Amino acid sequence: MARADQLIALLRAYAGEQDAQFTAVALQMAAGEAQKGHTRLAAELKALIEAAQVRQVSRPAVRPVPLAQPKGELAELLTVQYPRHHLTEMVVSAEVALKLERVLREQRYHERLSGHGLVPRRKLLLVGPPGTGKTLTASVLAAELRLPLFVARFDSLITKFMGESASKLRLVFESLKATRGVYLFDEFDSLGLQRGSQHDVAEMRRTLNMFLQLIEQDASESLIVAATNHGESLDTALFRRFDDVIRYEAPDVSQIERLLRNSLALFDGPTLDYTRLVAAANGLSHSDIVRACQDAMKDAVLENQTGVSQESVLQHLDERSASLRHMKFS
Ligand SMILES: Nc1ncnc2c1ncn2[C@@H]1O[C@H](COP(=O)(O)OP(=O)(O)OP(=O)(O)O)[C@@H](O)[C@H]1O
Ligand SMILES: [Mg+2]
Repeated sequence: MARADQLIALLRAYAGEQDAQFTAVALQMAAGEAQKGHTRLAAELKALIEAAQVRQVSRPAVRPVPLAQPKGELAELLTVQYPRHHLTEMVVSAEVALKLERVLREQRYHERLSGHGLVPRRKLLLVGPPGTGKTLTASVLAAELRLPLFVARFDSLITKFMGESASKLRLVFESLKATRGVYLFDEFDSLGLQRGSQHDVAEMRRTLNMFLQLIEQDASESLIVAATNHGESLDTALFRRFDDVIRYEAPDVSQIERLLRNSLALFDGPTLDYTRLVAAANGLSHSDIVRACQDAMKDAVLENQTGVSQESVLQHLDERSASLRHMKFS
């Protein structure tokens, strides 16, 4: 039997999906609870479902995007995904949340804006340490806007097409015009940092410069998301080419607690002492914390437990902290 908080967590995670069957089952669950006399829970479930329906209706229609698949040469440069992530899954600072909501709002109303000669923000630079949600952000933007997510593969661009990277890069930017989507250029600056012969390095520099020029010139309706770990080493001229620079940071105490609670929601046991868990997770990235929780949930499932144990979560958090210390000192 699902518990009340589990039902609510499930609804929060998936409410808003345009899925008639989901809504129907959720309403049946609410009715079932009402019949059992759980009127408060039933009312809360119903309110959540209705709020999600209102959100859906009040949003401007999002044009359905045909399933796109890069073909020919492009297939070697771009991979496509159709992610299903909700903005509510992300645990970020208030500032980052505000910036992401602004991008989504401007994109959802892009036609209204362009009707007045205004351009929605669509060129984003995401800066921050590993595992803080940069790649996840690109997935969330694509999912929320119901657009395909194209990931540009710089490695094959440089290594496979030595001498032709510039023309290949142009091909990628042609695709931005032809197929509206979220285009993720992940770790794009590793271009300049990779080791190689003098010739390789010169080519990488040229490609990076070309990339920045193409971003500047691009007037398509696609979103450009460039992500990097090395914000401090990038020059300020680069920042000007983007509509917004979004900075990600390791989670603070309140974010850690939200992450732990979200990640463990479906396996939460009454014995969990979050104050201790938060202390143990201090210093870890979002990604490490989520993974430690997943490991603890696997333990619970394999040991036929309905909830995770405090010891198991602590152990996995400690393991991750230890390997982090090991990496720092090696
Ligand atoms: N802010 C966040 N909120 C919730 N979950 C997160 C967040 N950041 C990371 N995660 C979890 O960690 C996973 C990995 O994060 P992601 O790949 O987005 O990190 P990244 O910032 O792109 O790291 P890298 O710089 O190493 O590429 C995500 O799929 C998600 O499960
Ligand atoms: Mg990433």
